[in-house]
Amino acid sequence: MTTKDQLLLYLKENHENWVSGELISNNLAVSRSAIWKHIRKLKEEGYVIESAPKKGYLLSKASDPITADEIRQGLCTNVLGRKNIIYLKETDSTNTRAKELATQGAPEGTLIIAEKQTNGRGRRGRSWFSPPGGGIYFSLILRPAISPGETPRITLMTAVVLAETLISLMKLKLRIKWPNDILVNGKKLAGILTEISTEMDAVNYIVVGLGMNVNTRFEKFPSEIKKNATSILIETGKQFPRIRLIQNYLKLYEQYYDMFKKNNFEPIMNRWRELADIIGKQIRVDVIGKTHIGKVIDVDNDGVLILKDNQGVLQRIFSGDVTLARQLPARSL
Ligand code: BTN
Repeated sequence: MTTKDQLLLYLKENHENWVSGELISNNLAVSRSAIWKHIRKLKEEGYVIESAPKKGYLLSKASDPITADEIRQGLCTNVLGRKNIIYLKETDSTNTRAKELATQGAPEGTLIIAEKQTNGRGRRGRSWFSPPGGGIYFSLILRPAISPGETPRITLMTAVVLAETLISLMKLKLRIKWPNDILVNGKKLAGILTEISTEMDAVNYIVVGLGMNVNTRFEKFPSEIKKNATSILIETGKQFPRIRLIQNYLKLYEQYYDMFKKNNFEPIMNRWRELADIIGKQIRVDVIGKTHIGKVIDVDNDGVLILKDNQGVLQRIFSGDVTLARQLPARSL
């Protein structure tokens, strides 16, 4: 264990209590200036450490760093995040980094996580607001032995895993919005961006990117997304430790992914249908250059939305933006 790790452990053992520099220095057998240097490093990693003359140091409970070490400690998975966790204080997009690493041969289960993204990417060319401090932005590299046509199932599965994680940890009343947004009280809490690389008729790799607003305050959201975005803090009134969320998500992800690889997708899809609660609903779907209005007949196992439009024609829709009829002004239908 490095001196920095020992120091962190010591501060954690004395969580929320002041410990004097002298005591640390004696216990770890290092100089006071070395301690100061390591404290500065820990602060840079996101730990909130107060310091005061005569009192020493205090690790605050506001600390919520998402370093690779913090994720590893207490992570109950066999593959996901096991071999490789890459933590970046800042990057353009974890999906972009993950694709690069996957191309260079990074193994299944590699996790790339960032405190901040400068070019966070969303579906359909949109951007993803990724400030430091309150959000979770990460990408997982998967290498399942499936055909490219089956990959939308991974995205559907991811939405179910994320929804189940949030329900089990904080009993959030949420809904999956087709194809894979997580909404609470009609506002977006999290989104998924899946990108794939194929070779001939096989999948080379899949990158599953997840963006979630965890401890983001309402004032922090830019005005253009304030109306449609929310966070766990806004919905529950409480901060939630990001590490716990990531660890629980990865654990559940592995269980669902194992089911998926055993061709047991039906129960996952049934749960998706339950959580989406869209079948039978009157909706509008905006697809590039086109709008469909009608009733949802089904979302099939490949995530295709089957809509009976108002002319009675069955439409198979692969991607788009859905608005429920009750959210639309009367004139739109
Ligand atoms: C969406 O709802 O439009 C999808 C948003 C996905 C955002 C995440 S944040 C981590 C990963 N890196 C990115 O650039 N995008 C995804």
